[in-house]
Amino acid sequence: MCGIISYCGTSDAVPILLDGLSKLEYRGYDSAGISILSENQSPLTIKTTGKVQELRNKVATLAPKHAHCGIGHTRWATHGQVSEINAHPHTSGFVTLIHNGIIENYHEIALKLAEQGKYPVSQTDSEIAAMLISHNYDGDPIKAIKRSCEELEGTYAFCILFADHPSEIYCVRNASPLVAVSTETGSYIASDMTALIEYSKDYFIVPEQHIAKLTKTGIKLLTLEGESKEPQMLHASWDAKSAKKNGYPHFMLKEIHEQPNSLLTTVMPRLKDMNISFLEEQIPDSLFSDFTRIVITACGTAMNAGLVGKVLMEKLLRIPVAVETASEFRYGDPILDERTLVIVISQSGETADTLAALRLAKERGAKTLAIVNVKGSSIARESEYVLYTHAGPEIAVASTKAFTVQMSALYLICGKIGIIRNLFSETFKSSFLQGLLNLPKLVEETLLLEPHIKEITHMLTDVQDSFFIGRGLDYALACEGSLKLKEVSYIHSESYMAGELKHGSIALITDKVPVVAITTNEETFPKMVSNIREVKARGSNIILITDQDISTCADIAEAQIPLPKTDALFTPFTVSIAVQLLSYYASVHRGLDVDQPRNLAKSVTVE
Ligand code: F6R
Repeated sequence: MCGIISYCGTSDAVPILLDGLSKLEYRGYDSAGISILSENQSPLTIKTTGKVQELRNKVATLAPKHAHCGIGHTRWATHGQVSEINAHPHTSGFVTLIHNGIIENYHEIALKLAEQGKYPVSQTDSEIAAMLISHNYDGDPIKAIKRSCEELEGTYAFCILFADHPSEIYCVRNASPLVAVSTETGSYIASDMTALIEYSKDYFIVPEQHIAKLTKTGIKLLTLEGESKEPQMLHASWDAKSAKKNGYPHFMLKEIHEQPNSLLTTVMPRLKDMNISFLEEQIPDSLFSDFTRIVITACGTAMNAGLVGKVLMEKLLRIPVAVETASEFRYGDPILDERTLVIVISQSGETADTLAALRLAKERGAKTLAIVNVKGSSIARESEYVLYTHAGPEIAVASTKAFTVQMSALYLICGKIGIIRNLFSETFKSSFLQGLLNLPKLVEETLLLEPHIKEITHMLTDVQDSFFIGRGLDYALACEGSLKLKEVSYIHSESYMAGELKHGSIALITDKVPVVAITTNEETFPKMVSNIREVKARGSNIILITDQDISTCADIAEAQIPLPKTDALFTPFTVSIAVQLLSYYASVHRGLDVDQPRNLAKSVTVE
């Protein structure tokens, strides 16, 4: 949520900032801006509403002189509408800054500053932060930052230029992410590694309440008191190629096609000698042996992966599993104790609500295990144990490959618990592990349906409303399919338990409301057929996603997506591909911005 990048070095800062912003644009894209600083000059700020391309155009017309130090920002509006004045960077006195996060006590600070006749020109909390730092500034950047951090409440990652320190950039953070890279050509800092991977794979995460000082010759990590600290270096396991479209028209389609590989890299290393091993991640077997219940908490797509995990675990382990939306978790006063395993799921590892849920779980003494894609992210660092998914960077705002690897991680955890607690017969264990091994191939096979799905998605091009229905695991996938469709195609969509529709919502079904019916479970298939007939009788057109034989009821659907046959436990992986492609092509057919749907941002770092 908001992308930030800064550079100080021997190259021209402007193209570095603009290229970095293009790569970070998925974090927010309603306005963008840069400020550059040259020796003996005050910072030059160029900003505009719209996408980074608008900013590029504006920069090209103004053709600023080469500068070796600069900061850049792409915004997802929180305080104040989308306008040029609210776009970052913001300047107050000697201070020019960019900000990712939310200052919760900005109103109190604004009142305090107003008493001294200092008023903002924008409606943003970020400008108030710039004013506060400027107010606390007496020529010593570290002191001003320290004093300000003591007053600021909320989340922030700031990159700050001080006009009288022209070859330096000061960065500080609380909760919002900042990663740093240093090379022979200079020092770089950004919200995430997608903007920096082409410069180096070695990086460090700026610890909270620490200052990173960027100069041409390197980055100094300091405490708020100004004492030097050694950064903890990390190494990215992916490269610049992973963050490019590589010939695909959109990142979303590329990422859908990457799933066989991301499943392979997530599952394979954990399957050893007909067993599941988390030795590399140092997760002890004892973690899985003595809890009595599981709580899964996450947001959006990650939470939908949790819904799949619940059905699977309750069926195979007979342990109660609750799935809680992270944004509600804290306020529901959840029942947690040392006999509860809390599994938090997050692609970015930075989602503010999920992080807050994790902190609460720890506070209440529960054991915590995080499923995270971004290495070293806040959730990964704060959770007691981490099981990384290895999907590589996910750039499209709509999550696809992260979802299937999150599910695969839950399958691994479920398998691990079943094996440790001796709940599986030898035959079941080997078929379960075989099913996991088979996932990349299964997904590859499902991807062959793409031309067919592309064709039938025309049924959705002109509709305004839709339903996704299913039962059991298929209901969890209906939730994910419906979320995916609405976020990229702007077609209003509801997910419903198929049997529940007739208790009210069926009133909404007309011939203008297609229903996507997911039915992969043999046991519930006859009931699903009845539910489908109920909506069909009310005029709805049906898109049926199934691996069942429909020869006795071929008339129930206007279109069918015939999934490859697989073990009933693993159908979420085939259904995922079908609903992802359906949503993708609905967006393409409607001519929308697939990778950056309106109002959204990739990493939601505000509560
Ligand atoms: C939907 C989507 C979101 C995220 C949610 C959580 O396609 O991407 O619903 O799943 O914002 O994000 P993470 O997984 O980063 O915590």
